[in-house]
Amino acid sequence: MELEAYVRALPKAELHLHIEGTLEPEMMFALARRNGVALPWASVEAVRAAYAFTDLQSFLDLYYAGAAVLVREQDFFELAFAYFERAHADGVVHAELFFDPQTHTARGVALETVLDGLERACVEARARWGIGSRLILCFLRHLSEEEGFATLQQALPHLSRIDGVGLDSSERGHPPAKFARLFARCRELGLHVVAHAGEEGPPAYIVDALDLLKAERIDHGVRCTEDPALVGRLVREQVPLTVCPLSNVKLCVFPDLARHNLGQLFAAGLKVTINSDDPAYFGGYVAKNYVDTARALGLGRAELRRIARNSLEASFVSAAERAPWL
Ligand code: ADE
Ligand code: ZN
Repeated sequence: MELEAYVRALPKAELHLHIEGTLEPEMMFALARRNGVALPWASVEAVRAAYAFTDLQSFLDLYYAGAAVLVREQDFFELAFAYFERAHADGVVHAELFFDPQTHTARGVALETVLDGLERACVEARARWGIGSRLILCFLRHLSEEEGFATLQQALPHLSRIDGVGLDSSERGHPPAKFARLFARCRELGLHVVAHAGEEGPPAYIVDALDLLKAERIDHGVRCTEDPALVGRLVREQVPLTVCPLSNVKLCVFPDLARHNLGQLFAAGLKVTINSDDPAYFGGYVAKNYVDTARALGLGRAELRRIARNSLEASFVSAAERAPWL
């Protein structure tokens, strides 16, 4: 069997996926027209040409500008439905979707509108393809903790629709410590906790995400290798890392896939998973991340099976719910 077909046939969970990062340029322009939103690019080709990122911030600037076309419940539904269709083709049986409410509420879009559209797509994906899903509300770390608390307040009537919280956006200069009280409150409310750490930020941010935020998974985490004691702890505690190889190359965390440290992390015994992050911007959905990484690093099928299994084990579904896929 070809590697692509093998990877697509592996049941897998996607655990690091920003739904706003699945906005393909064609949909961006269609929604801009439908909603009368002006975009800073003249065409689909022009926006694609702008996807030459030098770091995380250069990507985020474009990503937030693109997200401005998402206005109505139907927009969020279509965005997530299109993602689930691609995810199903890639063998995703369960997806835990990040969404950034503050990107939308800042433009006057109600949190409820975002949630209604996303949730309708989740229900439809379950009915059509049997894909399970969860929603993870991410706080933007370039904003203040107080603004995070205001967002949590808006989310309180909808807590039954949200499985957990995350922390994303500009990492450098915005350490986990800035959000310690907010995440403590989220934990009291029974929410799962994850956090981006060690993508561009130092290994100390990973330590703080674990100790101060009590993160159950670390999103990215690739800079852990700069601290051998931290690697030892991540192995001992089997903390899942949601690694996004194509994203890391696009954002210049690694110069190319052949020099990505995922193989090293895996060999060290870390609970590594492979994910797509913002696939519309980074050149590939989850199966392409598996295939390209395997080819670049010489990972075999046994390793890919282990990584797919890790993703299911690291998800927030119960052992009974994931049993059919393992
Ligand atoms: N928001 C969307 N993608 C992100 C990433 N890779 N890192 C931090 N914040 C993000
Ligand atoms: Zn991310």
